[in-house]
Amino acid sequence: MEPTTNLPAPMEINETLERLRAEAPGRIAAVTSVGDLDDLAADLTGKRSPIAAGRRALGTVPAEERRELGRAINDVAVEIDSLLEARRTTLEAAEATEALAADRVDVTLPGRVPARGTTHVIQQVMDEIVDIFVAMGYTAATGPEAETEFYNFTALNFGAAHPSRFESDTFYLDYGDDPEGVLLRTHTSPMQARYMEDHDPPVYLVVPGRVFRRDQFDPTHSPVFHQIEGLAVDRDITFGDLKGALEHFAHEFLGPETRVKFIPHYFPFTEPSAEMHVFDNGRWMELLGCGMVNPAVFDAVGYDPNEVTGFAFGMGADRLAMVRHGITDLRHLFDPDRRILEQYR
Ligand code: DAH
Repeated sequence: MEPTTNLPAPMEINETLERLRAEAPGRIAAVTSVGDLDDLAADLTGKRSPIAAGRRALGTVPAEERRELGRAINDVAVEIDSLLEARRTTLEAAEATEALAADRVDVTLPGRVPARGTTHVIQQVMDEIVDIFVAMGYTAATGPEAETEFYNFTALNFGAAHPSRFESDTFYLDYGDDPEGVLLRTHTSPMQARYMEDHDPPVYLVVPGRVFRRDQFDPTHSPVFHQIEGLAVDRDITFGDLKGALEHFAHEFLGPETRVKFIPHYFPFTEPSAEMHVFDNGRWMELLGCGMVNPAVFDAVGYDPNEVTGFAFGMGADRLAMVRHGITDLRHLFDPDRRILEQYR
């Protein structure tokens, strides 16, 4: 209990009330925010205010003065409260108006149009090629980009010393414990072997995908590029079927008048092998590699070469995108500059 001597005497209380009555209206009017008004209210009428101190002191005041002094305190308190309340109403209204103005949405402003993405020109070409083969009854599948040396080379009848296996041509990965090593696939052909291992014939398959070789980045080479692989395996598939299917493809992709020719070539996984060239824009152009599936590949995947035959083909999507759009530098296709890519929506 605080000593009673610390409490103000009636004289003092009356003086304080006079002062409060004189000062409060000005102080209240000067406050410009609800927060400041709360602080001022605590000052004027809160627990530590002179008003509260005066009320506490009432008990020590002689009985005959107590009633009058009590009423005086109350009158001042009520007066101040009503001033505070009025000011609060004004300030709250002003703050609400201000907040509304700050939050105002101008519905007449033009919207911000988000940048519209586009299917990359290489993807467009791959989709189109896949669609042409799907229309002929082929199934599309994709395979892993990190591939084992077995599927990329061995199962496809590449000899142990084939130069493509050299580290100068192929990116090897320090990954896993595969006995033959893991690499970034150099072509989409490994999916031929993977798919035949998992599916019985007949097989009609197209495989779009990204492939990797240790090439310089120049107008016609990139260490990453794109291929579409094809494989058809069934009873009695002939080289005539190969020519018919691929000529049909050329007519769909480049136009019904497009002339094609087949030139002998070599690939380890096809025998015989060929390149298909097309006459486009006044010149002959190599379009794809192809051939009859080598029986050694059927052996590697567990197919009986006496039961089935097949043909396979593979083509580069990047070069076809360049031909289609008259692009002369392959590097444009890998440039993320939207001003270039937007031209090929
Ligand atoms: N894999 C070959 C390459 O990357 C392309 C190829 C040629 C695929 C003949 C085939 C094929 O399926 O039969 O050069």
